[in-house]
Amino acid sequence: MKRIGVMTSGGDSPGMNACVRAVVRTGLARGLEVYGIFRGYEGMIAGEIEPLKANSVSNILQKGGTVLKTARSEAFKTVEGRVRAAEQLKMHGIEGLVVIGGDGSFRGAMALEAEHGIRCMGCPGTIDNDLYGTDNTIGYDTAVNTVVQAVDKIRDTANSHDRLFIVEVMGRDAGFIALRSGIATGAEAVLIPETVTYIPELIDLLERGWQRNKSSAIVIVAEGDDAGGAYQVAEKVKEKFNRYDIRVTVLGHLQRGGSPSALDRILASRMGHGAVDALLAGRTSEMVGVVNNNITYTPFDKATKHHMEVSPYLLELVQVLSS
Ligand code: F6P
Repeated sequence: MKRIGVMTSGGDSPGMNACVRAVVRTGLARGLEVYGIFRGYEGMIAGEIEPLKANSVSNILQKGGTVLKTARSEAFKTVEGRVRAAEQLKMHGIEGLVVIGGDGSFRGAMALEAEHGIRCMGCPGTIDNDLYGTDNTIGYDTAVNTVVQAVDKIRDTANSHDRLFIVEVMGRDAGFIALRSGIATGAEAVLIPETVTYIPELIDLLERGWQRNKSSAIVIVAEGDDAGGAYQVAEKVKEKFNRYDIRVTVLGHLQRGGSPSALDRILASRMGHGAVDALLAGRTSEMVGVVNNNITYTPFDKATKHHMEVSPYLLELVQVLSS
């Protein structure tokens, strides 16, 4: 293998740049040529492909977003789109690919490999932490820290006014951000897609807190919770519970930006480095992970089909410590 490509795809996450840098610098150190593919699979189809040198990735380690840009590509989901993408890779002499992204990006890589024989390794870049085969995805730690900073501020004003805040965080299908940030902020309750939400139970819990003179309450809701988003939860709670004045905050895309935490920078650096060496060792169609501090490889179909179970222990922790 002489030439590899690197791309970021799907929703961006803090630490993607650190991973790109690691792929480029490791590739060059191993005597490879490294090409950047811009705007994910969209850019691959359009031939937005450029050689990267060591200094192309200078001073990006600490930056949020992705210098390679990213996209969610509908065209790449079609057979014709993938034919055009593979033609571009072949025209540029790219034999191996490192895809930094989430489950949709890895499904794309699997198709590219199966239909066109392009060897692909993946690095899990998503704030959601919803991939199987790694303890943390790139960007998750930073996103949780961002939520914690925001919720701490919300707690100040909630306490001053004796209010209940319903705070919505990202996580269409996964409650990891909600659960971690709930523990770190002492939230009274965390509502996540992995468990069924019973509004009467939530109201009981809030009532018990009020009886014990709690001057504020915070409920963190993952956007994909079965009870709906924060506004819907607030409406349902309001119908039966009026102890506190209720306010809603939707944190939204601010969770995806910002300078990556040290943990994410190190994780991304290890994963990018590991992906290049894996390609050189003949591996393909696998995601690099870090489990118990060791580099691991998980086949794409396994990484994308399952995600780690939400720990009942952590759910209990939220309840016990806020009661
Ligand atoms: O997959 C990451 C994620 O941030 C989800 O948590 C969220 O639901 C989604 O992306 C938002 O996507 P978009 O940026 O396309 O609105």
